[in-house]
Formats: sequence, C-alpha cells, structure tokens
Amino acid sequence: MNFQWYPGHMTKAKRQMQEDIKLIDLVVELVDSRIPLSSRNPDIDELGKNKFRLILMNKADLADKRQSDRWAKYFESKGYFVYSLDARTKNGIKKITDIIMEACKEKIERDRKRGIKNRPVRAMVVGIPNVGKSTFINSYAGKAVTKTGNKPGVTKGKQWIRMGKNVELLDTPGILWPKFEDQMVGLRLALVGSIKDEILNTDELALELVKFLKEKYSGILNERYDVDESQKDIDIISQIAVNRNCLSKGSEPDFSKAANLLIDEFRSGKLGKITVEWCEDNE
Ligand code: G4P
Repeated sequence: MNFQWYPGHMTKAKRQMQEDIKLIDLVVELVDSRIPLSSRNPDIDELGKNKFRLILMNKADLADKRQSDRWAKYFESKGYFVYSLDARTKNGIKKITDIIMEACKEKIERDRKRGIKNRPVRAMVVGIPNVGKSTFINSYAGKAVTKTGNKPGVTKGKQWIRMGKNVELLDTPGILWPKFEDQMVGLRLALVGSIKDEILNTDELALELVKFLKEKYSGILNERYDVDESQKDIDIISQIAVNRNCLSKGSEPDFSKAANLLIDEFRSGKLGKITVEWCEDNE
C-alpha cells in the first residue's frame, strides 16, 4: 500500500497537536458527512479532552440528509456540538461564529463571572487529509481577517486568524491520520476518494460500490444507467460499459472505463446524495 502516512509522520503530527491543543478552548473537528465515523480518528477524544468540542459534518452537499440528521443526533448524544456544512459556500460558513460561541458558552459565562470581558475564544481545526480543512479555513477566514503575530500568551511563531472580536483561529490545521488499518474503514475512505485509489484498484472499488448501492440505495443504478440490478455485480458494471459507450480500442465494452465512470460519478454526487456509512449500522 502506497500511503503517505508513516509512523514518523504520525508521531510528529500528534506531538504538534498536543502542543497546539494546549493553546485553545475549542477543537473544531471536520468529518466527511458521507463517512462520519470512518473519517475520524478517535485519538482526538484523548487529545482534546477538557476542551470544548465542535464536529463540523463537512461535504454535507454530497451526503444523504436523512443519514446526516441521524449522525448529528448520534454525535450530540455523545456531547459534541454538531453542524452540517458545505465548506465551499458562503451560506454554510455564515453561522460558524455563532456556533463556536454557542459551543463555548460555558467558557464565555465563566469569563464573564470573573469579570473578564471580550477574551476571544481560541479554536483550532483538525481532521484527516482531504476532509476540507483548508477549504473551511479559507472560506471562514475569507479576506476580511487580520493575522495576529506573536503577542503575549501566544507561542512564538503561531499565527492566529482573528475573526471579528470573538474568535481566534489557529491558521494551520491539525492533521489526524485515518484508521485505515481497519479494512472497512479503508474501503469507505477509498470510496469517497479520501485516500485516492491506493487501497483497492478501481475495478474492485467499483464492485464494492455496486454491492453497497444495491443494498442501501436500491434503484439508483437502474435510474442512472438503465441497468438491471438483479444481475451479478460484475455484470452490472459490464452493462454500464455497454450503455454508456465505455469502449476499448477494439470497440469492446471496457470494464475498467465503466468502473472509473461509476466511481467518478459517485464521488462527484452525480449518482445522488449518498452516505456510505450508516448510523444505524453502528448502533
Ligand atoms: P484538507 O485541507 O482537509 O486536506 O482538504 P481540502 O480543503 O484540500 O479539500 C479537499 C477537497 O474537498 C477539495 O477538492 C475541496 O474543494 C473539497 N471540499 C471541501 N469541502 C467540501 C464540501 O463541503 N463539499 C464538497 N463537495 N467538496 C468539498 P479538490 O481541490 O477538487 O480536490 P480533489 O477533489 O481533487 O481531491
């Protein structure tokens, strides 16, 4: 497996995060709404203990709203604040400061009682690669912010992005490593394109996708590709090749081209809003 995370990277990232977390009030953890658990690393609960916690269910535009609602309740029941979001849009970002303030209301109240006024909430963004951390920071920070430099109480070299008078965000996100040693987690991460195609080749991945869609989103393949879903998974992909004109040089149906098309259309949302990891399967 050709994956970029080696033990050395992980240890360094973890150590860095342990340092950064000391500086903040709130951990803003991004997860992928299509695979809310598989896109987390539970180590963050240990790293972020005693901190306020907000889970941003990102890429909500690609996920099944019914499932996202269930997942939101699931996370809320575990004590997290939760917000669903498409980090690329202004609309999603608009409410973030309010949500952060809400998630930290105990701290704000505590400060108020001690007579401390206008001390901004300090937050950092964490998440696995590709979950949308940079997109979120860019959208949230926008152009209107000023970066604050070194100042008392701020570790040398740390850059904080000042969001109005209420929030300061650490400008570099903390990178968590996915738990890809668990095969199902690896498969889900590969399906959404989070770890590209390093775990399985595209043919195998497409077969897994067909199996999943037949079970959980019955009818969706028929609707988009006009295929008979009662066939074997492998025959469904062959039929997609025929119906979508995925041909090899010799004008034969090309299985791999069809597999690629299916995966691409799934990842880009053309097949519909699909959640790969269902909440009820985890309860
Ligand atoms: P990272 O910092 O956590 O590693 O993630 P990053 O922001 O780079 O985002 C990874 C990809 O996910 C980007 O696509 C980005 O546009 C996309 N993305 C982020 N948030 C959302 C969201 O809420 N909805 C959707 N649909 N996409 C989102 P990219 O640059 O095109 O990269 P890629 O697609 O080639 O991987």
